[in-house]
Amino acid sequence: MSVTIVIGAQWGDEGKGKIVDILAEKADVVIRYQGGANAGHTVIHDHETYILHAIPSGIISGNAVNIIGGGCVVDPLLLKEEIKILQEKGITVDSAHFKIADNAHLVTPIHKWLDKLQNAHLGTTQRGIGPAYEDKVRRTGIRFDMIANDSYKRMVDSHVNEAKKRVISLYGQNYPSEMDEELCRCFDAAKELLPYIAESAPILEEAVNSGKEVLFEGAQGTMLDIDHGTYPYVTSSNTTIGGAYTGSGVFVNFDRRIGVVKSYTTRVGEGPFPTELLDKNGEKLRDKGREFGSTTGRPRRCGWLDIPLLKKAIRINGFNALALTKISCLSGFDTLKVAVNYNNNVPVYKEFKGWHEPIEGITDWKLIPEACKTYIHFIEKELNIPINMISTGPHRANIIFRNS
Ligand code: IMO
Ligand code: MG
Repeated sequence: MSVTIVIGAQWGDEGKGKIVDILAEKADVVIRYQGGANAGHTVIHDHETYILHAIPSGIISGNAVNIIGGGCVVDPLLLKEEIKILQEKGITVDSAHFKIADNAHLVTPIHKWLDKLQNAHLGTTQRGIGPAYEDKVRRTGIRFDMIANDSYKRMVDSHVNEAKKRVISLYGQNYPSEMDEELCRCFDAAKELLPYIAESAPILEEAVNSGKEVLFEGAQGTMLDIDHGTYPYVTSSNTTIGGAYTGSGVFVNFDRRIGVVKSYTTRVGEGPFPTELLDKNGEKLRDKGREFGSTTGRPRRCGWLDIPLLKKAIRINGFNALALTKISCLSGFDTLKVAVNYNNNVPVYKEFKGWHEPIEGITDWKLIPEACKTYIHFIEKELNIPINMISTGPHRANIIFRNS
């Protein structure tokens, strides 16, 4: 009986989906509390691959109640599609197992249109995330409770006209002829989702108070946080632990605050990345780690592990356990580097002897090559937090549990 939160410690794509999937097997409630379909959480289960963008990863395991919290922004059309794909694969997505908070905001086709035009230089996922959060903060957003009571209708005109004005004056673009029809489809889809709409905070509160197993699933990563990340090259939500409070509406004492750390670093889109490798080693990491975006298919930028960045993530989120992922992708390097410090913004590296033995699928710590153990021990010692899980491959069974 515990309340657990899982947060990406880097720039997203740390392998949170797999860690959440493992933890979700025992969970009674799983909640996503921020972000939207910019996330791409890959879960491989019984030889089937699921890529979840909006629905919490607990849906795959079967028994949990899965909540999209009020801090999320929801694209009704994409969500409906995601539900359909899951159902076709035999996953139960009914109103007992899946709920959307009534105060979650909608992502409309207008938001996606704006995202493409105004945020291209940031390298966003073009899923309309930024513009949807903009509307929320400007107090012009449309929420699911407004769909439920039909009050959204009086907001649609200004939603459209504001965007038109902005786009015509800033980008000289015309209003797409198909947009009105797209908007109708979006609101129709939102209405079809009404059976899932609920006041979710009391459900969560009840679960916490009655000692149930509750799991908070973070999306994106700490360095993409709107306040604490590499601004302006960030996403538009609080990806860090504070977002769990505002995005769920429930105060909880997290027993486990798990930081998911990829064994090296990646980022998608623009923005600073001090340990980025623009050479053969970077390509090798991309190749070995299959580092292509699960939401956009873009090649991810790859680089060495960055300890100062992880220390910042620990300061913000108060991690008390770490899950180290994709360690098996580091086999085959003669030497590996880890940034341990910065000197005038330039990373200072420590070098490690690499290993060539394949370690994919290993579940016994004793079978890990010595050089790899040295690498992992170093991270653990530098960060001073136990690495309790080490993922050695994409499948659920490819995991080493330690210190527990
Ligand atoms: P998961 O949950 C990696 C990045 C985008 C872009 C920036 C802003 O799969 O780890 P946005 O569309 O959010 O306005 O884009 O944030 N980004 C992610 N990168 N994984 C994600 O999610 C991401 N979600 C957003 O590439 O640089
Ligand atoms: Mg991703």
